[in-house]
Amino acid sequence: MRHVNIGLIGAGTIGKGVVDSIIENGGLVEERTGISIVLKKVCDKDEKILKEIPHLNGVVMTHNAYDIINDEEIDIVIELIGGEYPAKEFIINALKKKKHVVTANKALLSHHWKELFRTASENRVSICFEASVGGGIPIIRALQESFISNKIEIIYGILNGTTNFILTMMDDNGYSFEDALSLAQKDGIAEANPELDVSGKDSAHKLAILALLGFGVEISLENIYTEGIKDISFHDIICAKSWGYAIKLLAVAKRSSSGIELRVHPTLIAEGHLLSNVKGADNAIFVKGDFVGESLLYGKGAGRRPTASAVMADVVSIAKHIVYAGVEFIMPYNLLNSSASFPLVNIEDIMLSYYLRFSVTDKPGVLAKISTVLADNDISIASMSQEDRKEFQTVPVVMITHKAREGNMRKAVNAIDGMDFVKSKTVVIRIEE
Ligand code: HSE
Repeated sequence: MRHVNIGLIGAGTIGKGVVDSIIENGGLVEERTGISIVLKKVCDKDEKILKEIPHLNGVVMTHNAYDIINDEEIDIVIELIGGEYPAKEFIINALKKKKHVVTANKALLSHHWKELFRTASENRVSICFEASVGGGIPIIRALQESFISNKIEIIYGILNGTTNFILTMMDDNGYSFEDALSLAQKDGIAEANPELDVSGKDSAHKLAILALLGFGVEISLENIYTEGIKDISFHDIICAKSWGYAIKLLAVAKRSSSGIELRVHPTLIAEGHLLSNVKGADNAIFVKGDFVGESLLYGKGAGRRPTASAVMADVVSIAKHIVYAGVEFIMPYNLLNSSASFPLVNIEDIMLSYYLRFSVTDKPGVLAKISTVLADNDISIASMSQEDRKEFQTVPVVMITHKAREGNMRKAVNAIDGMDFVKSKTVVIRIEE
């Protein structure tokens, strides 16, 4: 039996899952691959966390990541501390020590992928990151290997479990945003600080990685239009539902003749669409390639065991290369070679249908004024409803539009929001068909 030694930096939720996987399924991996994955060292700065790790035969526990990075016998370093720093320093130094690296760190990859891949390439080792997007869903491997001979046209989906859980609890169980978030935290789905998730930034980090793989272009996070779910009210969820839609936080990377569209925002999705039925902390990602057509990858987008499954997929893949194909790992997809370049489509130039909820005084002429402004901006109304008449009180008026240019929509809503009968900022939510 051949052995491949690994060191784990970061023994939190996912790190514990990796240890559990080695304990529970290490034998299975041995049977299937003829390779024993040996956990040699575990590092965490928190003594309490280290104490919770089962003390396996011969595994050394340390607070110093360099005990792993400088260990000549370790072949693969797993980085699961998250965040940019000091994770970046640990990974760069591990690569320079000619160790393969497995990471789930989407924030780090989306900001520094070029430096990381270049260092890996110069040192003829690999950096693998299946766990960075979609938890246990094998989307990275699908883009790097299964769809490699396709021109990717579109990648879109639900990339964040926390926000999908919150929106599901609001939609299915009538929870407020705050109560749904508390439950997500209590159930261990949301982080103690959920800002990255609810602001849409976590989805943007993941979309940057997928777009990089799908389109071979360098994506800078500033170029991804990002809106989170904090402003989604229960009222809008109910209204959308009555029109036959669910609200989801959608991440979209689309290639067209005018360039690449990159955006993360709450979106109305028709109830018949597969994505509208992705519930709880699940994720789902559609990929459309010119040969394969449309594929849907669906599964657990977060959590200890699903994410550990993705980490172990990378570990075993590298281990097989070390044992059977020589020490050098062949990058399945050489991003550093990519010569692709596409202009980015400005968010103002995208064409979508929109859900609009106006809060207006119920008096004669209001609708006429709203529709005139919309018409002046080339926006056509597809359907409309107003709640019970309450003369001279504030009522919600909801409209669904036909496809319109985002820039025109912004101009129109801005003008409408300046009118005296508008009582609060108009809610605008994009619709994906
Ligand atoms: N916090 C993420 C989510 C999981 O809720 O989907 C890790 O990317």
